[in-house]
Amino acid sequence: MTVLLQSSGMPEGVEIQVRNRQFDLQKHLATDWLDNDPFKTAFFNSMSMSFPVGEKSFIDSVRAYSDKIQDPKLLKEMSGFFGQEGMHRREHQKYNELLCQKRNYDLNKLESRWIKRVEQLNKRGKKILVLGGTVAAEHFTAILAERLLEGWQVEGMPNGMKELWLWHAGEELEHKSVAFDVYQQVGGTLGLRKFMLRIFTYHFFVDLLSCTFSMLRHDKQLWKWQTLKSGVKFMFGKKGFVRELWPQYKEFYKADFHPWNHDNSNLLNQGIDTSQGLEKPA
Ligand SMILES: [Fe+2]
Ligand SMILES: [Fe+2]
Repeated sequence: MTVLLQSSGMPEGVEIQVRNRQFDLQKHLATDWLDNDPFKTAFFNSMSMSFPVGEKSFIDSVRAYSDKIQDPKLLKEMSGFFGQEGMHRREHQKYNELLCQKRNYDLNKLESRWIKRVEQLNKRGKKILVLGGTVAAEHFTAILAERLLEGWQVEGMPNGMKELWLWHAGEELEHKSVAFDVYQQVGGTLGLRKFMLRIFTYHFFVDLLSCTFSMLRHDKQLWKWQTLKSGVKFMFGKKGFVRELWPQYKEFYKADFHPWNHDNSNLLNQGIDTSQGLEKPA
């Protein structure tokens, strides 16, 4: 396999920095912290629930190709990617444990759907498939990050929650091309990455909504007219999840797609500057 030396597609001026932050979420997680809305809160809590398992798989799938990459710039970006995702895992694990403690949720049960999904993918024994899954997931997180950094849903978050989500969003944007560039370098095909985004999208909605419904059922909020109305509006309404993400989502299916074709690096500083959190002493 031919390995090109220059393979990073990240623009000059963007640098992956690992910010070792911690967040004080104590007083928020027992409440419907997002807009005082049970559906939206459970949806975001469910996303958090998927991160520790998902991000471990993202790190492992990229690391599996470390010895195939020679471009020093991309190698440095990979190291930043491992560092950032590692911090995200740590903070979301703490978030999830605290959430389950505060709301009396069963952490193992809620997390199990993502553990099962990663096991199913790994069972195929093809590491390019797992990397393709990471590339698809990273596209999803990058476009969600852009919406958050532009203020979508963020105005309804209390400080603390806002800091955590903006910190994560900013770093997702910073490293959005790393898995993609590795995938391209090691011969990942257009067909496979398109296929993996379709698969990822299907499972993303099934798993995320099933986790959201589990939380709402536990909280005795699921079968309330107000919750269902809010859920439909949040998912499909004018400023809803699907319509907000769709324009950037579909770009991935183009043959000449690259995450930085859409240069939104202007969002990086403003997002991360407003997400200070509590710096952890080195
Ligand atoms: Fe992350
Ligand atoms: Fe990521």
